[in-house]
Amino acid sequence: AHLTNAQAPEPVFNYDEAKVGTYKLPNPLTSNTGKPVKTRADWENRRAELIQLFAENVYGQTPKQTIKLRFQTTAVDSSALNGLAIRKMVSIFFVDYPQVPSIDVLLYLPKSKKVAPVFLGLNFCGNHCVTTEADIPLSTRWMISGAVGEAAVNNRNGEPRATEKFRGMQARRWPIEMIIKRGYALATAYYGDIEPDHPQGWRSGIRSVLGDTTKADNWGAIGAWGWGMSRILDYLQTEPRIDSKRVITIGHSRIGKAAVWAGAQDDRFAAVISNESGEGGAALSRRWYGETVERINTSFPHWFCGRYKTYNKNVANLPVDQHELLALIAPRPLYVASANDDQWSDPKGEFLGAVNAEPVYRLYGKTGLGTATFPALNQSVGQTVRYHDRTGKHDVTDYDWEQYLRFADELVR
Ligand code: GCU
Repeated sequence: AHLTNAQAPEPVFNYDEAKVGTYKLPNPLTSNTGKPVKTRADWENRRAELIQLFAENVYGQTPKQTIKLRFQTTAVDSSALNGLAIRKMVSIFFVDYPQVPSIDVLLYLPKSKKVAPVFLGLNFCGNHCVTTEADIPLSTRWMISGAVGEAAVNNRNGEPRATEKFRGMQARRWPIEMIIKRGYALATAYYGDIEPDHPQGWRSGIRSVLGDTTKADNWGAIGAWGWGMSRILDYLQTEPRIDSKRVITIGHSRIGKAAVWAGAQDDRFAAVISNESGEGGAALSRRWYGETVERINTSFPHWFCGRYKTYNKNVANLPVDQHELLALIAPRPLYVASANDDQWSDPKGEFLGAVNAEPVYRLYGKTGLGTATFPALNQSVGQTVRYHDRTGKHDVTDYDWEQYLRFADELVR
């Protein structure tokens, strides 16, 4: 899934460790006015400053107004997945903006009488693609082509739509039975419900009514997807079978970038999992390796705020770097995962992002990663912050989920 810009030559990326060069990371524990951050109370102020810096320079401002939501249950099956789970479908409508499409949530719940902790993650290709269950309606929304190795088919207006071939195509990334059997619920929704992933997508999503497109710090698509995750959390707080104090946000790749930004801003998320979120996610921006700021801003001009582009050729001037985004999750549990054949996401840069969040976890008397040594392949390391670099490509695998479930058992339950 890679949109290219036909006019401009693509800026280069780098896979040569020798060309990474040197860089100096900003210190999360130094305030904007240069004061050292020494206490948790100092950090709370610094935290607000950092969120503001990320909003002004990277993701854009997330609109602060509370907007009226209406949750409508459209289907309940108390015997889904061959009797293993309860399945609910719930649409989130925006009462004052009927023109904005609903976010259609697919929720699987364990049958137990106890409230369940929940993994909340957006999907790339529609709810019909996370499971083979035939009664999930096929999404009728704009559909990314090639995201699941399957081409969307154009409708009469020339807009790409899913076909039956999409059904279950990413089920492997969502081991729902394994999640349910471990006592967790799963909530997912199609990221394209919130904003179709192309430069004009904002015109039909939530950004068509919230934000200010004339501003250099107007929010981008990643901000919108993250905002959508918080709206799903609003709904989960009303769901009696859910333990809404134990909502773990998870995201892969571009959706991982959104999950981390959502978790940074909204501390109702109990824990955050970044699966290969790479550039603009867990990976350090100043480390010139894999994808770069210039490259991502060129290939995906709609993901970040306008001002982010001004750093294309001078990343050193960014007032923040991504370790500070990860630090905003503190003291909550955080998992950063890489894949060895996914050098585009820069596994080492993701690891260093996690390493450099350590001082903030320490301020809370917690050990974050607790190590600065890059682990062997397929080895999960760390304490409140965990990390692994698994073998294989850019993907979400059972190996990844096994680590996440153990992490959740140990730190969230
Ligand atoms: C592209 C993009 C990455 C992104 C990835 C994905 O490769 O360059 O930044 O993470 O798509 O979302 O799969």
